[in-house]
Amino acid sequence: MSLLLKRKSTRKFTDQVISKEDITKMLKAAMQAPSAHNQQPWEFIVVDDRELLDKLSNVSPGAWMLKTVNVAIVPLILPTELSPHFSMQDLSAATLNILLEATNLGIGSVWIGVYPLKERVSHIEKVLNIKGDIHPFSMIALGYEEGNREIKLRYNESRVHFNKLEE
Ligand SMILES: Cc1cc2nc3c(=O)[nH]c(=O)nc-3n(C[C@H](O)[C@H](O)[C@H](O)COP(=O)(O)O)c2cc1C
Repeated sequence: MSLLLKRKSTRKFTDQVISKEDITKMLKAAMQAPSAHNQQPWEFIVVDDRELLDKLSNVSPGAWMLKTVNVAIVPLILPTELSPHFSMQDLSAATLNILLEATNLGIGSVWIGVYPLKERVSHIEKVLNIKGDIHPFSMIALGYEEGNREIKLRYNESRVHFNKLEE
């Protein structure tokens, strides 16, 4: 099975700590993502402080799993002159690359949606001391999966069209 088909959201984690080397591999994957005009409008905060992770878990109902992991990566979106309209796509590509490298390393992950929801953005900015024209884009909770949740394949031929949509 291809790596892409093995990726899934993990929300139940063991206590096992992820090595610094593996965190670096995920950050390398993130920065290898395609971006419009190769602007790479990103930076990344690695959060492994228990108190900060607990505070971040309050950002939204879907962020509770941050309470249960030892580390998370928070991709930040930077202003870019050449192609500002594509920054969200650039950051999505970087976020997905982290999930895929995590899968490759046998690490479980889940993407927590942040940007552009103002309340979530400002909560995280306060917790992580992010100021100015740089904003949190997403959060990725990382850890080793407890159990092995089954993956359902989602390919749906009826969603595929050739050349034009039918009249
Ligand atoms: C933009 C975006 C935001 C998401 N936000 C959350 C979230 O806040 N909490 C969560 O548990 N999962 C979140 N997810 C994960 C989705 O729920 C998950 O990808 C989807 O249910 C499909 O399941 P799978 O990832 O296991 O294939 C998010 C995914 C994306 C792409």
